[in-house]
Amino acid sequence: MNEPTHRIGFVQFTPVLGALDFNIERLLDLVRLRVEPADLLVLPEMALTGYAFRDKEELGRITTAENTRKTLDTAARLSDLFGGAAIVVGYPEPAGDGAFYNSCMLVGPDGLLGNYRKTHLFGAEKDLFLPGDTGFAVFSVRDLTVGMMICFDWFFPESARTLALRGAEIIAHPTNLVMPYCQRAMFTRALENSVYTITANRCGTEMHQKELRFTGESVIYGPRGNILASAPKTEDHVAVIDIDIHRARNKNLNARNHIYDDRVPDLYDL
Ligand code: ACM
Repeated sequence: MNEPTHRIGFVQFTPVLGALDFNIERLLDLVRLRVEPADLLVLPEMALTGYAFRDKEELGRITTAENTRKTLDTAARLSDLFGGAAIVVGYPEPAGDGAFYNSCMLVGPDGLLGNYRKTHLFGAEKDLFLPGDTGFAVFSVRDLTVGMMICFDWFFPESARTLALRGAEIIAHPTNLVMPYCQRAMFTRALENSVYTITANRCGTEMHQKELRFTGESVIYGPRGNILASAPKTEDHVAVIDIDIHRARNKNLNARNHIYDDRVPDLYDL
């Protein structure tokens, strides 16, 4: 690495389903011993509520305006603890009329900077959430450009590609992964877009018709597909690492290939 320019990280965390206040206390206990200044820290999908809601009634009991405020306040506290870092945290977002989005918020020291609603719903999520309508926007965090996508969005290369073509240098990726592919596949999302990716996953199990076993192994990739940090399969974990953002800004793979300029969109019309 040249001189490090920024610090990015993740918190791998295992919430108890529906126990928001308890989860917030445990999360703050987990990070308190590991705090260090950072620019961007990513938490899992549904980080403070758990994931496997039985039905919309159960989801609606936890998806209240008060709990959205508590999530925002918790992110602001994390931002303070991590030296003003921007925090990305997954949460269930009320959409009105008993409907919900699977969302993540981007929160800085002065409050909300952005929000993303998951586009590609996975499995039983289709019974609980509306497909996201925000599209793939990018946001400024200090002098960084950050994009967000949530869990199964990874399976659709267009998600990361759209963020990258819009200027994302870092893709924040909160997850609740149950399949074994993503942690390795993000190699390709990082490499093909020449971006940093932060996949913040959870551990533990929840019941939803059948047992869901979340797969941990949160991972940060660099723009050449190098693993810069990774977490264990089954334990909560905090990682913060140095990066050189110029590596993501350089889209020249070699002297003759620029990964964006060499695209041929006219042939990709399907
Ligand atoms: C997932 O999208 N939570 C697998």
